[in-house]
Amino acid sequence: MQDIKIQLKDITKMFATDEMETHALRGIDLSIRAGDYVSIAGPSGCGKSTLLAILGLLDTPTSGQYLIEGKDVAGMSLAQSASIRNEKIGFVFQAFNLIDELSVYDNIALPLRYRNKTLSQSEIDARVAKWLDKVEMGHRARHRPSQLSGGQQQRVAIARALVGEPAILLVDEPTGNLDSTNGDIVMEMLAQLNREGTTLCMVTHDQRYADMATTKLHLMDGKMVRTQAEPEIAYSQVSQLGAYDRVEQVAA
Ligand SMILES: Nc1ncnc2c1ncn2[C@@H]1O[C@H](COP(=O)(O)OP(=O)(O)OP(=O)(O)O)[C@@H](O)[C@H]1O
Ligand SMILES: [Mg+2]
Repeated sequence: MQDIKIQLKDITKMFATDEMETHALRGIDLSIRAGDYVSIAGPSGCGKSTLLAILGLLDTPTSGQYLIEGKDVAGMSLAQSASIRNEKIGFVFQAFNLIDELSVYDNIALPLRYRNKTLSQSEIDARVAKWLDKVEMGHRARHRPSQLSGGQQQRVAIARALVGEPAILLVDEPTGNLDSTNGDIVMEMLAQLNREGTTLCMVTHDQRYADMATTKLHLMDGKMVRTQAEPEIAYSQVSQLGAYDRVEQVAA
């Protein structure tokens, strides 16, 4: 059996304001194995970003268990979770989030420089060169992010996310700021990295891209609706069904 990288058990997230409680996640169970490519789709407000923030240790669940490579990370201190995040999690955001004062090279090297365990300069150089090459950006190593196209910036962001060899790459709407040509290039690159072994979990509104994943999940009203076992239920049909209860019955 493949290693389980990520395990969520009955995760809930409740946001309370003065006026109301919002149950953003209602009992999420999810296992992601080494080499998986998971996509999460669903309507606005269904909890996708909340789930990704919990997976990325940027937020804590209200209840439930979260294991990364078997280690319980749900109740950790901020300092502990920052260090686990640096070692185990890679992030790619819609808005690239590169640092414009730094070169492409230094953006990619940054996560390695933040590590507790200090790598030598030659180890850092070798890792950065490997990832520059993988995302085909070696010829732009000394450029600043603002001197690159959006697609190129996103490729640099992917290299930065993977240079530390995380357990999982979390991707939130990676093509949201790209035209369709650059979007396709970035998505093809992610698929290729997955074929080479990167474990991926991606939130996307774009059904074409969601369909590139090997495990396609839908979130509806804070609950997971698994469509992988029911390939005949296309997303368009799911959305036409409308009532969430009915979808859950169909997918159960
Ligand atoms: N900090 C917060 N305080 C209160 N409610 C919140 C907070 N963050 C999210 N919510 C609520 O939780 C629910 C899930 O939000 P979330 O951002 O996860 O949705 P989403 O699926 O990412 O939507 P979108 O596709 O529009 O980005 C929404 O009803 C939202 O209003
Ligand atoms: Mg969102």
